[in-house]
Amino acid sequence: MEKKAFKRTLVTCALPYANGPVHIGHLAGVYVPADIYVRYLRMRGEDVLYICGSDEHGVPITIKARQQGISPQDVVDKYHKIIKDSFSGLGINFDIYGRTSSDVHRANAAAFFRKLYDEGKFITRTSEQYYDPEAQTFLADRYIVGTCPRCGNEGAYGDQCEKCGSTLSPEELINPRSKLSGAAPVKKETTHWYLPLNEYESWLSQWILDGHKEWKTNVYGQCKSWIDGGLQPRAVSRDLDWGVPVPVEGAEGKVLYVWFDAPIGYISNSIELLPESWEQWWKSEDTKLVHFIGKDNIVFHCIVFPAMLKAHGGFILPENVPANEFLNLEGDKISTSRGWAVWAHEYLQDFPGKEDVLRYVLTANAPQTSDNDFSWKDFQQRNNSELVAVFGNFVNRAVVLTHKYFEGKVPARGTLLPEDRDALAQIPELRRSLEDNIAHYKFREALKDAMGIARVGNKYISDTEPWKVAKTDMARCATILNVSLQICADLALAFEPFTPFAAERLRRMLGVCLEAGTDHRAGEQVSVNTYRDGEGAALHTHAAGLRCCPPDGAVCLDWEKLGAEELLPEGHGIGAAELLFAKIEDDVIQVQLDRLAAIRAEREAAAAAEAARRVAPQKDEVTFEDFEKMDIRTATVLAAEKVPQTDKLLKLTIDTGIDTRTIVSGIAAYYSPEDMLGKQICILANLKPRKIRGIESKGMILMAKQPDGTMRFITPAEVLMNGSEIG
Ligand code: 2FM
Ligand code: ZN
Repeated sequence: MEKKAFKRTLVTCALPYANGPVHIGHLAGVYVPADIYVRYLRMRGEDVLYICGSDEHGVPITIKARQQGISPQDVVDKYHKIIKDSFSGLGINFDIYGRTSSDVHRANAAAFFRKLYDEGKFITRTSEQYYDPEAQTFLADRYIVGTCPRCGNEGAYGDQCEKCGSTLSPEELINPRSKLSGAAPVKKETTHWYLPLNEYESWLSQWILDGHKEWKTNVYGQCKSWIDGGLQPRAVSRDLDWGVPVPVEGAEGKVLYVWFDAPIGYISNSIELLPESWEQWWKSEDTKLVHFIGKDNIVFHCIVFPAMLKAHGGFILPENVPANEFLNLEGDKISTSRGWAVWAHEYLQDFPGKEDVLRYVLTANAPQTSDNDFSWKDFQQRNNSELVAVFGNFVNRAVVLTHKYFEGKVPARGTLLPEDRDALAQIPELRRSLEDNIAHYKFREALKDAMGIARVGNKYISDTEPWKVAKTDMARCATILNVSLQICADLALAFEPFTPFAAERLRRMLGVCLEAGTDHRAGEQVSVNTYRDGEGAALHTHAAGLRCCPPDGAVCLDWEKLGAEELLPEGHGIGAAELLFAKIEDDVIQVQLDRLAAIRAEREAAAAAEAARRVAPQKDEVTFEDFEKMDIRTATVLAAEKVPQTDKLLKLTIDTGIDTRTIVSGIAAYYSPEDMLGKQICILANLKPRKIRGIESKGMILMAKQPDGTMRFITPAEVLMNGSEIG
């Protein structure tokens, strides 16, 4: 457990690279859990600053720009907008979604570097790096291509072969060439600044390994293995023309390494949003800093960035880094380059009004402790049999029946029977569990608790059957619906972090408003009241000092009411029933499955074509004497028949020029006896005779094995005398 009490929470989400859209893997690993956390804290009245933005530097962006014949700025402008819109479309509303190409960031990152530079916190190292003599520029590893020494892929990069997955260095590539000019790169000396992480090793060990044993096992484990393995100085600059220029005289052509400037982006974006008060978020020990990231970012957020902050001084360090593992798609690793992904912006187009379904499914399948899988069938099933059949069905019955029997007013509650008390008693327990799970970043389990409340309600209304009771005992029916509506109000609270759109619809149905915390986007602390119908109405002030704008007659709820005896008073008017969730039909899912099947088929065809081009590697050397032992001759097939009771064997009678003999050959899958009759072939004549299926076979027919595994016999280009020696 985290130890101390904090006054405020600063939540950052990994800044996505602006060289492609975000997909479900990003959402499940980082952004949906962070959003749940922030919404939850805000409902509890906590002061939260929620920071994200695009990571707009780095070599892949320059490569994409070159491929598309546009500038890096054009690339990041395009994807920054797509990503930003995807987040807000899914209800992920950061206080600021900034960008690392902003002036504020460039100045801030440069100042950060300069302070460390001035204080002698860096070391410099000169090394030989690849240089393109034609383009007259140093080449990042990604800009060098060549043949992979492991698998023969001719398009392997200087840092990785995407075909076989090997991590490579440019030195290992066979026939390396520059992606810019095609020229062979040469080695040239260059000097860079390094952060000597080794000097921070014992401090990091104390801070993390002794001080943060509560971090998730995957995060702690990675930190431990890095620290135990011994930390090395890390370069913080690069020879590139896209990035934050190194703010030092004589450093022309050098920029800050993207992993040096990106995390500083969290600070820059805070400065941009709150130029006057950002320091209270980044420099006060009363602030709890939490980084939400994917597992590939652990070393940067737990080791490198903290070391940078420590070197700089004056900044707080993360209290927790709840990194998730990866999400797969239909059993396969998500891959941007192969198109194997569900993109957030496409989902929003294909499933309008179903933002919550994706949030729900990604949380229910969150890769919290190990990699997990997303499948469209599971998506459909969770929507239809959980959101629709349990949550939506329960709410719908309670609201519709209240209109039917009680003119849309919360009916009076009579004496509670044991079944009423049982149902109500389960809610505070589920709430406690939900709170505990969120405090431990276990969002999947917390969602189960919220869903537990819906299950309680659905079972309660099914068991008590108010539609039947109404025929004989209206007072009892009133009690049942009163209890049901209280549970609906609990759901409007409990689901706000997970499915905020449905929670908002539910609040509108129930005529309630929600105090949901502070909003720093407005530059002042006003309530985030998602009850948009109330817009324009006069703000009123909640007990916690936050303001919201409910329409007339709304009941104000906050998290503390969850599980209370009475959230909605008798006589409170509720709104018309709205559909909370709609069923998803098979044909809608099929469209998605067909799209993926087409990608898979294309990939398999490409792999097969590639395999067909691949030849077997050369065998070990033999001497000429070894070769001379082989007696290879031309021969003609005089007779051919299938060997009975086998699929593979043909018995061939051969004129070898030396004699007439029998050879049994496993070629029946490729040739019929008629195909072979009269054909001139090549044979290994002096192979030791052996019995195959009781037939003595003397020699072997020479065959060429094709990449697809099929065999073809070798025939001379012109008819030769049988028995001609081949060598
Ligand atoms: O892995 C990524 O997508 C990086 N762009 C994350 C950067 S997080 C932070 F440090 F900015
Ligand atoms: Zn390879």
